[in-house]
Amino acid sequence: RLVTILNGPNLNLLGMHQPHIYGHETLGDVEVDCRTLATELGLELRFLQSNHEGQIVDWIHEARETAGGIAINPAAFTHTSVAILDALNTFEGPVIEVHISNVHKRESFRHHSYVSLRADGVIAGFGTQGYGLALRRLARLIDEKA
Ligand code: DQA
Repeated sequence: RLVTILNGPNLNLLGMHQPHIYGHETLGDVEVDCRTLATELGLELRFLQSNHEGQIVDWIHEARETAGGIAINPAAFTHTSVAILDALNTFEGPVIEVHISNVHKRESFRHHSYVSLRADGVIAGFGTQGYGLALRRLARLIDEKA
């Protein structure tokens, strides 16, 4: 029961800018919270961040071999990346899309998501709590599949 959490560009700076949109928690804080919850749920966790689209594609390919589910905050690639959508379409397990902010309340270019064409669920506007909700949902979906 391995779950991979993928984070896209600029999320390495989470908590250090635009706190009115993204809050004060850093990605390190989010990872600590996710690890605690994963242990509670009996999940093994890979928690990754990259600013590079191809790296994220490569990690999705790795998840095909190893992971039962993926939670992904593709950040700006949400709105641009057919490559990440195509990679996710090769993955057979559940996929949950996470956005810290409510993208629908923001600029119109954030209203469209390529990743949503594949995601089994989408969480937006729950702040960093969304990651925990995604983990809980993945645990459930992986159990239902087994
Ligand atoms: C984001 C929303 C995206 O539109 C933005 O480009 C991000 C973060 C979010 O978590 O709210 O980088 O995915």
